[in-house]
Amino acid sequence: METINNFQGRDLLSIADLTAAEIAQLLTLASQLKDKTLKPQCQKVLGLLFYKASTRTRVSFSVAMYQLGGQVIDLNPSVTQVGRGEPISDTARVLDRYLDILAVRTFKQEDLETFAHYATIPIINALTDLEHPCQILADLLTIQECFGTYQGLTLSYFGDGNNVANSLLLAGAIVGMNVRLATPKTHLPDPNIVAQAESLKQPGTEITLTEDPQIAVKGAHVVYTDVWASMGQEADAQARIPIFSAYQVNQNLLTQADSEAIVLHCLPAHREEEITTEVLEGKQSRVWQQAENRMHVQKALLLSLLGIN
Ligand code: CP
Ligand code: NVA
Repeated sequence: METINNFQGRDLLSIADLTAAEIAQLLTLASQLKDKTLKPQCQKVLGLLFYKASTRTRVSFSVAMYQLGGQVIDLNPSVTQVGRGEPISDTARVLDRYLDILAVRTFKQEDLETFAHYATIPIINALTDLEHPCQILADLLTIQECFGTYQGLTLSYFGDGNNVANSLLLAGAIVGMNVRLATPKTHLPDPNIVAQAESLKQPGTEITLTEDPQIAVKGAHVVYTDVWASMGQEADAQARIPIFSAYQVNQNLLTQADSEAIVLHCLPAHREEEITTEVLEGKQSRVWQQAENRMHVQKALLLSLLGIN
């Protein structure tokens, strides 16, 4: 069992902070850590500073850290001075002196970058409006477990060009997995992320942005969707339903994918909106395996960023 060279002390603000080789090493370590007889010892403290709700990320990071022998402090803004407006620059410099590592879930990517600027400990992106890198590491592990590889496969994503879509696009470019995003023209992924993905793209890897779900789904190995209204967009949720209804992942769409295709969703899911119950609970769905893998990849990430073998 080996953690990643040169990883100790780094931040994970974007999935693009990792190379293809580092992603592969992390996933190997995560697979090894599924063996519960391995008991790496980590006497460190992880802080979880979440400005948005979370079930999977909060619990999987906490359990990962407990199983590694470490401790977790939940720094919910409602019970800290953060919620009363203490600046990030001050909070970061103080937490830096207590914690060994900090995972932040927030709105603006710039706020996450401010944490990383003022803190010397590793800062992990636990979701921002721009990206969700920990989710995508779990997705890649799930795809690798199902197909033996992710390289050369095609992942097709349907719905909103949001944080999950942005990170999938970057990850596909980095690791050599074709990514097709089917989104309305009004809800495209971030243009800077698209440009970054184009510049990082491995030779032969295809990035496709289309308005047409029928084009995106043909022969896809992975059919992926996420909610139509992300956290912070709740007021817009009803207005979004007619805009996105043509992008629903349902049985009709799925039959046009590869016959061995798997279905992924980062969860939480809104049944009968972005995905039907039939597909979410169907035999091609791997969403529970995908959710479990959050814990394994984050364990590998924690050990590697903390430099623990
Ligand atoms: N997929 C995911 O990040 O879920 P939570 O919002 O529950 O953490
Ligand atoms: N795009 C969703 C993902 C939740 C895990 C959101 O940001 O709310």
